[in-house]
Amino acid sequence: MKFIKPYLFAVTTLLTVSCTSQKETASLKDVYKNDFYIGAALSADQIEQKDIKVDSLIKKEFNAITAENIMKSMFTHPQKDKYDFVLSDKFVESGEKNKMFIHGHTLIWHSQLAPWMEKITDSTEMKAFMKDHITTIVSKYKGRINSWDVVNEALNDDGTLRQSVFLKALGEKYLVDAFKLAEKADPKAELYYNDYNIEEPAKRAGAIALIKRIKAEGGKVDGVGIQGHWRLQSPSIEEIEKSILEYSALGIKVAFTELDITVLPNPWDLKGADVNQKFEGNPKMNPYSEKLPDSIQTKLAERYASIFKLFLKHKDKISRVTFWGVYDGQSWLNDWPIKGRTNYPLPFDVNLKHKPAYDSILKLKNAEE
Ligand code: XIL
Repeated sequence: MKFIKPYLFAVTTLLTVSCTSQKETASLKDVYKNDFYIGAALSADQIEQKDIKVDSLIKKEFNAITAENIMKSMFTHPQKDKYDFVLSDKFVESGEKNKMFIHGHTLIWHSQLAPWMEKITDSTEMKAFMKDHITTIVSKYKGRINSWDVVNEALNDDGTLRQSVFLKALGEKYLVDAFKLAEKADPKAELYYNDYNIEEPAKRAGAIALIKRIKAEGGKVDGVGIQGHWRLQSPSIEEIEKSILEYSALGIKVAFTELDITVLPNPWDLKGADVNQKFEGNPKMNPYSEKLPDSIQTKLAERYASIFKLFLKHKDKISRVTFWGVYDGQSWLNDWPIKGRTNYPLPFDVNLKHKPAYDSILKLKNAEE
């Protein structure tokens, strides 16, 4: 007995240590490496590698990156004759250094436009802008940026075309033009149409019609990006599945490009991700400012598990799943659609610790083996 006790202690310690270290070395990107890329959107600070802990978490967990903001037109093309590539150069260099899949977000989008672009109403001027903007940016990163959101959010929720500055100046031809210009600048880059709510039936029908039209007119569309700014209860797994099947039937890849799940009350049952919608806050709208209750933490983990279970079922159709942020503290959902709330939408918490949601995503793969 005397000898057995220390022996048992040693074995238990060894087991605990090896289990813990196994858990700590497992990562989303490694566990899903044969299925699809696992990405994260990086903030400007993360691109500048300001926090070493965040930086090592990014390298450990993700093999695809998107710039959350710095490649939007107001930052890359602030004036007609001025481009600013300082941060996008850093973003691309770091992706290359870490052998990551690099996604460009975004070329033609009505939001976060430079003020000078908003003023363009003339068709000749708009045509010249699009040619210069797309050609300059895509050629600069030719062979280095793997895929592009060529057009972002061109649709209304009912599936009709959004009355954007581009549509007003050029009519719907701007869509195929954008894809043609991008293909010309980098024939090998994968070109995506990206939008929110396009897993909902009406908007999905609009997106399918739009992609078909662009292709019929000679544009190259390689994939659709379903943003995936979702809620605990919706959209249903059935609608997401129908979307994967219907989009991939067009012969294109399906990516989930901006995944996050809000756990907070939604003003007016708001769906989607229109960045221009803003609401006044009140304490009722920010119920978990101190801590996320265990019951909601569990719901979030279950929601992520059911979503990733579906993604695995259709892994042959899915190219990439990117979270919109690395960890909760950084999420745009702390400030949208109401400023200054505390949300919990991602698999890593405010202290960079992995949450039950993370474990539930990893566990699905263990169950597969
Ligand atoms: C968001 C960013 O996360 C915020 O930091 C910014 O203030 C507004 O834009 N759809 C998109 C993304 O395509 O670019 C948006 O990102 C979220 C909705």
